[in-house]
Amino acid sequence: MTACALWGLETALVTVEVDVANGLPAFVVVGLPDATVQEARERVRAAVRNSGYEFPLRRVTVNLAPAERRKEGTGFDLAIALGILRASGQLQSKLDVLCFGELALDGALRPVRGAMPRVRHAAARGIRAVVVATDNAGEAAACGVAAYGFGSLRDVVDHLDGRVRVPPCAVPPRAGEPRHEVDLADIAGQETPKRALEIAAAGGHNLLFVGPPGTGKTMLARALPSILPPLDDEEAIAASAIHSVAGLADPRHPILTARPFRAPHHTASHLALVGGGSPPRPGEVSLAHCGSLFLDEVAEFSPSVLDTLREPLEERSVTISRAGGAATYPARFVLVAAMNPCPCGFWGDGERECRCLPDQIERYRGRLSGPLVDRIDLRVHVPRVAYERLRDEGREFSAVVRDRVLAARERMRARLSGTSQRVNADLTVAEVKRFCRVDAETEALLGGAVRTRRLSARGYHRVLRVARTAADLAGSEGLRADDVSLALLLRSDP
Ligand SMILES: Nc1ncnc2c1ncn2[C@@H]1O[C@H](COP(=O)(O)OP(=O)(O)OP(=O)(O)O)[C@@H](O)[C@H]1O
Ligand SMILES: [Mg+2]
Repeated sequence: MTACALWGLETALVTVEVDVANGLPAFVVVGLPDATVQEARERVRAAVRNSGYEFPLRRVTVNLAPAERRKEGTGFDLAIALGILRASGQLQSKLDVLCFGELALDGALRPVRGAMPRVRHAAARGIRAVVVATDNAGEAAACGVAAYGFGSLRDVVDHLDGRVRVPPCAVPPRAGEPRHEVDLADIAGQETPKRALEIAAAGGHNLLFVGPPGTGKTMLARALPSILPPLDDEEAIAASAIHSVAGLADPRHPILTARPFRAPHHTASHLALVGGGSPPRPGEVSLAHCGSLFLDEVAEFSPSVLDTLREPLEERSVTISRAGGAATYPARFVLVAAMNPCPCGFWGDGERECRCLPDQIERYRGRLSGPLVDRIDLRVHVPRVAYERLRDEGREFSAVVRDRVLAARERMRARLSGTSQRVNADLTVAEVKRFCRVDAETEALLGGAVRTRRLSARGYHRVLRVARTAADLAGSEGLRADDVSLALLLRSDP
């Protein structure tokens, strides 16, 4: 029997060899199984018996080959049980099938996490059929193999021995066009924050909204998915594989059609945000891969948790190191964060008075560390909306803005030829030099800003990247002074 091991998103085919020999009754698993695989012995023994088979009262040795790498998780249960049934003459079929699934003590077959990357791996190596739990069959079928799903060990044996023929699972249909919960046209006023949102969507820049309560910060952030370009096939598979490993794939529609929008609560732990555990699960930053990560009330997050965002924001991936090795998950997302300017929320409001003491305000803002804020290209004030504006007509719909975003992405694609998923936020310093040239007058403007606002070198390059996106949205090949001043305006200090 063949199974498939999983470490993060990494996979490898594993041959499950079973030997049943004369000797004192024993059941050993070798080939670097970790504690979770060792426990398979108890599940398999009970599942075999409770399915009406005999567990051989001899010496049973299971080898997971290749033996050099540690195996973890419950996915080997099914292959081990089938191997034992075959070695003891209770399964006649000589077919070597790829199978994985966890067994319950009563013989039921349970789904495992990561079906999609496992089956993709097998399919790339020429395997055409898999046997899995019913709830994993949709994910497996979406990878282009014949996927047979079963509810119990007994059903699998009956199928393999030809007593009951089960058809393969149908390829699950793609979910329809996603519906968006907020459209930009729902939001009154806020022209500058909307502009910032459009730039974030086009260039993949991180964004922070700061403003008093009830001005539409949360609404604005939630409108972001409505102006992002659709997922392309490669992105859809990458994002779906991460959801599969997290156990979050929808069995009816395992391939995502909407860009992920993850909004973890501010009480989220380090583990929930960046991932971890054993086996290592992806965190919110990886579930947001190819989409956006929304941190509402960002100042309420624990500073140490926020600090862990530095790695994914810089590397676009997270590496989780553990005793058994490291797992790397991609984490390429647009960060959108929202916060009040002070604990009471009304600092700088103009209408309501702020009741906070200066050191309270300082401490509140200090919760967002300098290095984190430095990685946020767009920092925008979201002011109170005047009463008259609330009833405005003729606001722009998300669909219109999205067309501009798509056109800007097209310009980026042409410039960064060949690499379709790169956006201006990813430009290297050399590319910034090449693609963000400015004239002497604009250079002077920038120089002034670097001095008066004490921009770091990183900040300087980030301003140019944002200006590049503003120019791309305007359909201009050169960077104009307007683009640079807009980029500076959209980078106020929080
Ligand atoms: N600019 C706006 N246009 C239309 N409705 C708005 C706007 N701002 C706020 N609202 C209304 O107020 C409600 C609250 O807005 P929202 O939650 O986005 O505010 P917020 O800025 O996130 O506030 P808080 O700081 O308290 O989180 C919205 O559900 C909406 O009904
Ligand atoms: Mg809010």
